[in-house]
Amino acid sequence: VDNRQDFKVADLSLADFGRKEITLAEHEMPGLMSIRKEYAAAQPLAGARVTGSLHMTVQTAVLIETLVALGAEVRWASCNIFSTQDHAAAAIAVGPNGTPDNPQGVPVFAWKGETLDEYWWCTEQALTWPNTPTGGPNMILDDGGDATLLVHKGVEYEKDGKVPSADTAESDEHRVVLELLNRTITDGSQKWTQLASEIRGVTEETTTGVHRLYEMHRDGTLLFPAINVNDAVTKSKFDNKYGCRHSLIDGINRATDVLIGGKTAVVCGYGDVGKGCAESLRGQGARVIITEIDPICALQAAMDGYQVATLDEVVDKADIFVTTTGNKDIIMASDMAKMKHQAIVGNIGHFDNEIDMAGLAQIPGIVKDEVKPQVHTWKFPDGKVLIVLSEGRLLNLGNATGHPSFVMSNSFADQTLAQIELFTKPDEYPTDVYVLPKHLDEKVARLHLDALGVKLTTLRPEQAAYIGVEVDGPYKSDHYRY
Ligand code: NAI
Repeated sequence: VDNRQDFKVADLSLADFGRKEITLAEHEMPGLMSIRKEYAAAQPLAGARVTGSLHMTVQTAVLIETLVALGAEVRWASCNIFSTQDHAAAAIAVGPNGTPDNPQGVPVFAWKGETLDEYWWCTEQALTWPNTPTGGPNMILDDGGDATLLVHKGVEYEKDGKVPSADTAESDEHRVVLELLNRTITDGSQKWTQLASEIRGVTEETTTGVHRLYEMHRDGTLLFPAINVNDAVTKSKFDNKYGCRHSLIDGINRATDVLIGGKTAVVCGYGDVGKGCAESLRGQGARVIITEIDPICALQAAMDGYQVATLDEVVDKADIFVTTTGNKDIIMASDMAKMKHQAIVGNIGHFDNEIDMAGLAQIPGIVKDEVKPQVHTWKFPDGKVLIVLSEGRLLNLGNATGHPSFVMSNSFADQTLAQIELFTKPDEYPTDVYVLPKHLDEKVARLHLDALGVKLTTLRPEQAAYIGVEVDGPYKSDHYRY
């Protein structure tokens, strides 16, 4: 393979800009950078072929180059059609030592504004390893589980001996996946089965992907071990919460520049993401209303000072609506029909099925117009207009640049340590879904204290004995909730 052909990005001439932002980000990612230093000599990922499917941003570029620094070979795709930062992708393709005329970086298949066909083609390219025994990776680093899903579906249909016809698809995206599998699975072929056989494991970034993994494990179909990175405390209690607290309003501002202060905002879901979103909107002076189905989270929202209501009660009164549930059918077309003129509707959950975009498009006489990429107005027959962000896909990455480096340094340090665990200790991880051991979770937090000037108190031995922990941790039991 000609390395210079083995990638697809929007514009290689953006690499210089990408490299400048990667250099700035490195300083803001002390977790990743100290892991690079700590493991530089040991090269724990030597021999690892990591397929990554995760938003191709500047922060992800620092993750990719950390995996490479630890010895891994890497192929990458984004996990969302709108989330790639084209300058970051270009810099990764060119590499720190290459030039746009002589790219020497990592094979990356990602650009902002992919079609669904292109998206799944990119995922396939990231999973396709030329000149290797199985033609595939031996590790997956996933966000939302699409790469893992493709491998599992491939194996399932090879076992069945047939792939369902694309005509049976339940959605556009399902059709694309079935077409891809029909194309790659021919009579008796074992491409995906062979590819899966060498995979030591997957480390999964987000709530939605983790949910898929536990389902496969419950159904007995999970093919290799998985580390649930999301439920590392230094991931979900930081990235999901403080990351969204930053990037939600960043997305709304860049998309609309509407003044948030004084407006009424509805946040659907008060989990980790919802908590961060609600706080960011309140911080701008919005009056925030929460919807929840879980009494514990509803009570938390009330105690935090938010009104908790059903969507139906407030749908005609609010100015901004954000879905954060990881569930489907949260805001339906019939809800949008009741909203105020120029209400803003967006989603920050992983998939685009929280807002009923298909139903919206089917309202008789409705007219969609593009204000700018990822910002659309939908004009109802009565003249009312709604502003929908990122076509219902996650708006913090579609309309802005996702979470900032410092918080992603925590998530990606967890990811890197999880990759090292699964790759170097296959015997300790039979097929199951695991969370990161607590001593590693605490290590990741520790790596971020100095940069913030945090002075940690050291436990005295007699105090440690009194509360039943070691002086060096772990400090909490596994069921502690933080
Ligand atoms: P979570 O499970 O902590 O929170 C989701 C909340 O939504 C739960 O409290 C649940 O009770 C509530 N919920 C479920 N159905 C509902 C309904 N019909 N109406 C109202 N509330 C409902 O999950 P988390 O970690 O907050 O993640 C949420 C989603 O965001 C997931 O899809 C996750 O993958 C994604 N995510 C997105 C990020 C981004 O940067 N855009 C970052 C991290 C996670």
